[in-house]
Amino acid sequence: MLKIAVLGVGRIGKMHAENIAAHPRASLAGVFDVHGPSAKEVSQKLGVKQYESAEAVFASGDVDAVLIATSTPTHADLLEQAIAAGKPVLCEKPIDLSLERVNACAARIAGTSIPIMLGFVRRFDTGHRAVRNAIASGAIGDLHQVIITSRDPGMAPASYIEVSGGIFRDMTIHDFDMARFILGEDVTEVSATGSRLVDPELMAKCADYDTVTVVLKTASGKQCIINNSRRAVYGYDQRVEALGSGGMAISENRPLNGMRLYSEQFTDQAAPLMNFFIERYADAFAAEISAFVDAVEKGAPPEVGFEDGRQALILAEAAMLSISEGRSVNTNEIG
Ligand SMILES: NC(=O)c1ccc[n+]([C@@H]2O[C@H](COP(=O)([O-])OP(=O)(O)OC[C@H]3O[C@@H](n4cnc5c(N)ncnc54)[C@H](O)[C@@H]3O)[C@@H](O)[C@H]2O)c1
Repeated sequence: MLKIAVLGVGRIGKMHAENIAAHPRASLAGVFDVHGPSAKEVSQKLGVKQYESAEAVFASGDVDAVLIATSTPTHADLLEQAIAAGKPVLCEKPIDLSLERVNACAARIAGTSIPIMLGFVRRFDTGHRAVRNAIASGAIGDLHQVIITSRDPGMAPASYIEVSGGIFRDMTIHDFDMARFILGEDVTEVSATGSRLVDPELMAKCADYDTVTVVLKTASGKQCIINNSRRAVYGYDQRVEALGSGGMAISENRPLNGMRLYSEQFTDQAAPLMNFFIERYADAFAAEISAFVDAVEKGAPPEVGFEDGRQALILAEAAMLSISEGRSVNTNEIG
């Protein structure tokens, strides 16, 4: 049993804590949150220790590994402390909003053999992974084009948007990683456009966009189009489509159930889409914990690590530069 402690038990940390507690090869070693009542609630519900500080977690002999699910600006510091204490880490995305800070963190942890995994959960979705496997097996021939659709069911609260770092670092970051996962080669060119259509006032105030399209290109000419919206009234829209010389593979949306309804007035009505990421990626979040346990047990590098987090952030920076300068950006231009 790998004893994992969770740092930060807010919206996502609470779910991770429950997944660890339910995992057959892991146990929840305890939780810590700067907001005491949050930690107390989870520790009491799951019957585990509430630590008094992150330092106490890192110093504890009862903790084999840590999962960092705190607010984004704390990730890099906690990750460095975990590595200094010799604890393997599963860190939520993004590593930090600043590429400079991520590069400094990379320098500090350089050469470590302690497993560091990044929480790009969508890689563990069975549908998205099946698309990648179809490409790898040659089932659709040579890959030419990928389309990633990722739309939230509704605009996040203003308090969240204001500190999010902007749509590319906060939301598209998942799609940048998915693009790298599906394309299977480095992206060299990034072209982006953004609009303020859902909440123009809030977006203008935050110098952000709520509707974006990004075109990525690899050195060999493979293309990926990412489209994001902060609001799709029909629900959380998550699709990945890959076109190759010999066919196409699609990872479709998941409705709440598989029933289809036909009547005199309509045909083929499906149930609504799963509400949001906690529901839609529930299986993937559990599989992510398994992948982390595997990596730590084998002492092997996790299949999605620190450098993947850094590369996704480079693509976010390139997209922002592309919009601000109205041109296509070569990834070599970034940090
Ligand atoms: N992988 C995904 O799909 C996904 C989805 C949502 C959020 N996230 C990421 O997870 C992280 C947390 O997001 P959230 O929505 O759960 O936020 P949240 O605000 O609900 O929870 C964050 C928690 O961390 C605690 N915290 C802050 N600083 C701390 C510190 N130094 N030590 C201990 N606890 C601390 C806060 O008190 C809070 O309880 C963010 O980085 C976010 O980007 C990832």
